[in-house]
Amino acid sequence: MFDAAKFVDEAVRKIKDEVKGKAIIAVSGGVDSTVVAKLGSMAIGKNLIAVHVDTGLLRKGESNEVERIFRNMELEFIKVDARKEFLDALSGVIDPERKRKIIGEKFIEIFEREAEKHGAEYLFQGTIAPDWIESGGGLRDTIKSHHNVGGLPENMKIKIVEPLRDLYKDEVRKVAKYLNLDVAEKQPFPGPGLAIRIIGEVTEERLEIVRDACAIVEEEIEKSGENPWQYFAVLLPLKTVGVHGDRRAYGYTIAIRSVDSIDAMTASFSKLPWDLLERISIRITNELKGINRVVYDITNKPPGTIEWE
Ligand code: XMP
Repeated sequence: MFDAAKFVDEAVRKIKDEVKGKAIIAVSGGVDSTVVAKLGSMAIGKNLIAVHVDTGLLRKGESNEVERIFRNMELEFIKVDARKEFLDALSGVIDPERKRKIIGEKFIEIFEREAEKHGAEYLFQGTIAPDWIESGGGLRDTIKSHHNVGGLPENMKIKIVEPLRDLYKDEVRKVAKYLNLDVAEKQPFPGPGLAIRIIGEVTEERLEIVRDACAIVEEEIEKSGENPWQYFAVLLPLKTVGVHGDRRAYGYTIAIRSVDSIDAMTASFSKLPWDLLERISIRITNELKGINRVVYDITNKPPGTIEWE
């Protein structure tokens, strides 16, 4: 049985032993990075610099929420506006693995820049077990290179600290609860963010659509009292014919994904009520420009993965 109190004691002790100097961490507001930052702050306090990179790939309102959480912790907090930098780097890129690599490398580049600026020698990361197992750790094939593994250049100048490396998601949540972090129940969000919820090229316009679509899915599901493990929208660059008023429309498709899982290694699609799906569909097609079709993904994992890229 996993013991959160014991894990926290040991993790803090290990960090104190290992980290002798300034450290830096990227905080996205997700459960993993928030827990790691809290452990780091308990171990080394103001020697930990929490950098929040606004990649422009985050969910609606998320960047401000991250700022609010971290301004209340005992550490240094810095926010970097890198929205344009990420969008430029992703321009014209379609291949999912390339997107992931580019985003991972951009992240590291920005961190190294910040780390050097602040003289940090250590980089804390919220890597958890499924991240490296699925990225070809051990004997398995690479399924997807998760950004916090695959994007790392081999000659990294900074030392990596990964306190959650052996934990699964449900265990990280137990630690978050034990530490009284109000992100404990937050659904997971991938490192590469909304970029992998847009199939095909990432543009500002598509980002805006998928961000709003994700917000609608979240709002409606949370209001309904249903409690899936993870739920979001995916923008497909697939145009189909529809009708708006009495005019022919030709627009993109939004796929709704909602799954139940324990540790993200396997998942089954949520059996959401039809009327809830209908409300989501109506709101998406009414409120978002250029969308005239909404579909529901009924694939389990395996064979599908949770994200579409
Ligand atoms: P997949 O799509 O591989 O996702 O079934 C499993 C879980 O991991 C999340 N995910 C990621 N998390 N970096 C992360 O930190 C990533 O690159 C990444 N890709 C997927 C996904 O949202 C799901 O919860």
